Amino acid sequence: MFLQKIENFLFDESYYVSSKFFYIRIYRWNPYLNLKPWFNIFPLKFKDSVQFMVLDLLFQVKDLYDSTLTFRRSCREGICGSCSMNINGVNSLACLQNIQVNSTQFLTIYPLPHMLIIKDLVCDLTNFYNQFRLIKPWLIQSSNLTFNENLQSKIDRLELDGLYECILCACCSASCPSYWWNFDKYLGPAILLQAYKWINDSRDFGTLRRIEFLNNSSRITNCHNITNCTKVCPKNLNPAKIINFLKYFSKI
Ligand code: SF4
Ligand code: F3S
Ligand code: FES
Repeated sequence: MFLQKIENFLFDESYYVSSKFFYIRIYRWNPYLNLKPWFNIFPLKFKDSVQFMVLDLLFQVKDLYDSTLTFRRSCREGICGSCSMNINGVNSLACLQNIQVNSTQFLTIYPLPHMLIIKDLVCDLTNFYNQFRLIKPWLIQSSNLTFNENLQSKIDRLELDGLYECILCACCSASCPSYWWNFDKYLGPAILLQAYKWINDSRDFGTLRRIEFLNNSSRITNCHNITNCTKVCPKNLNPAKIINFLKYFSKI
């Protein structure tokens, strides 16, 4: 990886040593250029001590310097889960992460670690979504299916708290060393939390089938309680605890 200054703007050296600037360093890679990945350093200037959402800073860079900078985003409210990236070393959502520009001078942004990269900050989540599909993320109905509404008591509904809030941003899975090395076998914290949600849903009739599926090869056993997943979850969920519940249920 090498550092590349922004050629179009021909900044002089003072841009790179001045305390008047806030520097945002961004990992770049373009599959259509015959180049290794590189870092761009973009200097930004702010009048006052202000707080910025990281997603807004990325838009500033895109608008001011380089319209080819590529990243995913949609809701800008922490709901869609598409703006997940590695911000100053921690996986997070760019639209929930605030930066006080006067209290720090550098911001470093990488795509989610150990994911295949499509371009710049956009990673390939195909494996992640294929794994999601494996857990059958829908209600499995009883065999004597009626077309009535699926009712649930308030207590049963409460059982889904701490689970239904997951937005499948993949911050947790991409921070799990076990998932990094076993992504083809281990389902990872996000998918296991989702699986537990369906197991725990009083309206679902597929509990045994679901547990049987998980209690197979390394789908759960590769979790070694590292708990990075819980530390980074931008929705403050606790996938590490949920995986321990699953291990208990499936007697691993
Ligand atoms: Fe994202 Fe948290 Fe869900 Fe993991 S558990 S996918 S970090 S919301
Ligand atoms: Fe990984 Fe979380 Fe388990 S970081 S090893 S999934 S506790
Ligand atoms: Fe939707 Fe950030 S843009 S979660």
